Amino acid sequence: MERKRMSNTGELGYLFDWVESVQVKVRELVGEWKDREGNLIMILHAIQNEFGYVPRGVANELAKELGISLARIYEVITFYHYFRLVPPGQHNVQVCTGTACYLKGSSELIEELEKRLGVTEGEALPDSEFHLETVRCIGCCGMAPAIVIDGETHGRLCQKDVAGILENQRRGKRV
Ligand code: FES
Repeated sequence: MERKRMSNTGELGYLFDWVESVQVKVRELVGEWKDREGNLIMILHAIQNEFGYVPRGVANELAKELGISLARIYEVITFYHYFRLVPPGQHNVQVCTGTACYLKGSSELIEELEKRLGVTEGEALPDSEFHLETVRCIGCCGMAPAIVIDGETHGRLCQKDVAGILENQRRGKRV
């Protein structure tokens, strides 16, 4: 979504612009999905695609437009692991916890990542460099245990590999 600043009103103008553009976007999405089944989830997907997460102000607007409670929206957001309530980190780290990866030590990888990144799995800190989450089988069990960083899969890992992978990612290098 394009964010424009009104030069004569400074930061406040920016905020008004943002609120207005959110209202327009939400109305547009609600109009598109209004009579379709599962519309709340589809709209939340579209919102997350647009903003990278579901901002509280947008959820509020959505509740008004759909005529449902904000609590209902948060119920759905918190039920599905996919939805985020804070902006994603610069790098997204997903650890596979499917059966093969679990058996081959994904929990040790999580432990190491949590230690090195200073975040807890599932916790997304605003402005943090990395976002750490767990996912179910990513379809490369032969490479277990595996993690995906920014869409790139790294397999057959052990705890000691983690530091190097993170460092390379920070420097923008592929391993
Ligand atoms: S269980 Fe991890 S890739 Fe299948």
